Amino acid sequence: MQYLNDLKIKNKKVLIRVDMNVPLDKNQNITDDNRIRAVLPTVNYALDENAKVILCSHIGRPKGKVVPELSLAPVARRLSRLLQKEVLLAPDCVGPEVKKIIDAMKPGDIVLLENLRFHPEETKNDEDFGRELAALADIYVNDAFAVAHRAHASVVAVAKFAQKVAAGFLMKDELKFFYQSMERPARPLVAVIGGSKVSGKLEALENLLENVDKLVIGGAMANTFLKGVNYYVGQSLIEEDLVSVANCLMRRAKENQVKLYIPVDCVVAPKMDPQAETKITPIQEVPRDWMILDIGPATSLLYAEVLQNAKTIIWNGPMGAFEMDAFSRGTMAMVQAVANSYALTIVGGGDTDVAVHKAGETSKISYISTGGGAFLALLEGSQLPGVAALDGKFVLKAHERPDSCLPKTIT
Ligand code: 3PG
Repeated sequence: MQYLNDLKIKNKKVLIRVDMNVPLDKNQNITDDNRIRAVLPTVNYALDENAKVILCSHIGRPKGKVVPELSLAPVARRLSRLLQKEVLLAPDCVGPEVKKIIDAMKPGDIVLLENLRFHPEETKNDEDFGRELAALADIYVNDAFAVAHRAHASVVAVAKFAQKVAAGFLMKDELKFFYQSMERPARPLVAVIGGSKVSGKLEALENLLENVDKLVIGGAMANTFLKGVNYYVGQSLIEEDLVSVANCLMRRAKENQVKLYIPVDCVVAPKMDPQAETKITPIQEVPRDWMILDIGPATSLLYAEVLQNAKTIIWNGPMGAFEMDAFSRGTMAMVQAVANSYALTIVGGGDTDVAVHKAGETSKISYISTGGGAFLALLEGSQLPGVAALDGKFVLKAHERPDSCLPKTIT
């Protein structure tokens, strides 16, 4: 794979796919700008090299229609403040007006194109749309790790038609840290997996069992495992149809000599409510009408001990309903255990990232991924379409090449 600094970009038009899908409040104010800050090294490099920088991104899911609330205008303003430089927001991402704006750019200028997903072609990975995007620039750079698991036109199709393609520095770091932790890990390698549903993490769990030395399970998904070993979990959220799968995963762990940990105590409440009465109970004593909403203190201690001699830790998913203070202690204890570890520590997934930021411990984590779905896809062992496109693994048919003499409609 080529990286941005492998190419000569001076005076060149460089289209950079970024993921600026940042959360907005009801007044379209950005509530967390980490994803914008994460691409600054790439953007600054391209500006310093005197390229004409054209950024493109999606925000939200406007479903192929223009939704004014999902304009990238707040992102352009924030980026402009961070760069201390004017960032022009184009009214669209393709079309004659956009082309005119780009043609008027000087080296060192920067333009942000409007939300790619205002066009239905984007999420359909439409080739003509990809071709149109590619035609805006001399070089296409993908620095949008967080959307690399989507086969969308600005991620995949565009790379087929671009004259030159490269990965940006964020993409490079994301892949470097992930593969360092999973392919050549310093051992013991411990994975901590939490979150509400086993169903969303089945593939990841199965894949991890082939690689890790220890697997620590928390969050509501642990309930399905607890049910699998016949604990009574009261009114807790469980996925009944996956109890047998959880059992099979526990058997697999044994076969693979992976040590698998599930909670030994928990925080329970009659309902998921920040004001609800709460109790700490051993896992054997969950009251009939109550539900498990966090791991308990004994589990936090146990898990911290499990992490103590780890050389590599990979963490995805909170230990409980941490958005409510009453059920946040398990997740916060996990943040401390990971932050205080001497291991290489990789954290990924939106909620986990929020927990680490909330605890103010970001500087003690080796790497915090900007990806949610993309990070999970890597845990599942999947090839990311956005990365495959940069690797040149999509081979062009002759008629698809930009310089082809053949009609584009040939099949
Ligand atoms: C993300 O936030 O995970 C990425 O920006 C992808 O967004 P999507 O789930 O709407 O495709």
